[in-house]
Amino acid sequence: MEKYVIKGGKPLQGEVDISGAKNAAVAIIPAALMVDGVCRIENMPQISDTDMLLTILTHLGAEVKLINGSTIEIDSRNVKFSDAPFDLMRKIRASYYLIGAMLSRFGSAKTTMPGGCNFGVRPIDQHIKGMNALGADIEVRNGFVYAEAPDGRLHGAKIYLDKVSVGATMNIILAATLATGRTIIENAAREPHIVDLANFLNSMGADIRGAGTDTIKVNGVDKLHGGSYSIIPDQIEAGTYMVAAAATGGEVLIKNVIPKHLDCISAKLRETGTIVLEYEDSVLVKGNGNLRKANIKTLPYPGFPTDMQPQMGALLCMANGTSVITEGIYDNRFKYVNELRKMGADVQVDGRIAIFEGRAKLTGAPVMACDLRAGAAIVIAGLCASGTTEIEDIHFIERGYENFVGKLRALGADISIVDFPDEPDIHEKVIAIG
Ligand code: UD1
Repeated sequence: MEKYVIKGGKPLQGEVDISGAKNAAVAIIPAALMVDGVCRIENMPQISDTDMLLTILTHLGAEVKLINGSTIEIDSRNVKFSDAPFDLMRKIRASYYLIGAMLSRFGSAKTTMPGGCNFGVRPIDQHIKGMNALGADIEVRNGFVYAEAPDGRLHGAKIYLDKVSVGATMNIILAATLATGRTIIENAAREPHIVDLANFLNSMGADIRGAGTDTIKVNGVDKLHGGSYSIIPDQIEAGTYMVAAAATGGEVLIKNVIPKHLDCISAKLRETGTIVLEYEDSVLVKGNGNLRKANIKTLPYPGFPTDMQPQMGALLCMANGTSVITEGIYDNRFKYVNELRKMGADVQVDGRIAIFEGRAKLTGAPVMACDLRAGAAIVIAGLCASGTTEIEDIHFIERGYENFVGKLRALGADISIVDFPDEPDIHEKVIAIG
């Protein structure tokens, strides 16, 4: 087992390159299954979520070649319908995109219910509603999703989403791309990775219009052809380094970003007194060591992203004054607060609202990464704390941050990965004692 060990108190300084967007990549990899040709994909983030999806594609018969660090080629010409490795599917949220992609390519799909971070109940009813509207029969049984297009192909339809859902919007786009006729998705999500998926598919011959607005039109095509595509930079990875720079009172140039995608994060950081300067494809963040309070409500794009909420929570523990964070997307996304409390933070949580009293002088402690972004938040707290912070369960963090430790070390952070012995669980201990 591995953990992060951080000796805090050093302001981050220097430059960091942002990798390709995780949430675009995890939809684009399943989308490559639908392409009758070779897709060359650049700016692919090297993280465990993309590794798992590429392994799943290989099991289905796709040929995956690493061209260089972040460029891969996927050849799906010889894929056949078969069971994908269910133990891998269960580990990631984005395995739900295999429903849309496999239905599109084969007219049927069998997947597990998706895994991913636990923020309370995360249903997929809107995905199912969309697939049903396109003519698929879907059954969820014993943790599996069975999907079938009775005549082998889906048919375009008008779908109104009851909830703004990133996953459902993208899954319906995938399913509708090779369907007959026109699909209209209303009340669609507008995140940058939705636009990126549509751009990827269009560059391979799809006809998708309106991505980035709340009405998306997909004119089904018979076939997709191979091509080249470069994934957009990761909004949340960039935002995490922005917050880390501000929280530590450092100065960091964050490169290879689309500043427009960071507007909501830049605006909140400016409210805290942080200087954020935007250039063509980079942002410079200068912390002043004297943070002001800010209130945040997470919302679908272009609102403040829920995936940046924990990192801002870590920062607001140390701001002057009382800040309120309202979580607008998930029922249970404040589990990281318990870990921050172990480091001296003063935070009260009531349902979807957390009140950060601020002015905390954080001190290092043994803590856990409870999920991907919670883990990033705890790393930020550790970078600011006096003394040593040890973070376990770092596999969550490695799902979504490429070379997190290497990039932070290059910015001057004192962080390392340390091996520690795997503790037998309580059941094994009892057996050992008995
Ligand atoms: C995606 C992101 C995740 C991010 C989230 C919101 C990926 C792989 N993950 O997750 O990092 O936190 O968007 O920006 O891209 N909902 C339903 N029924 C559904 C679908 C969703 O009730 O069928 C609810 C969810 O429980 C949640 C809200 O709608 O409360 C938004 O979820 P959604 O946008 O679908 O998030 P994900 O696609 O799971």
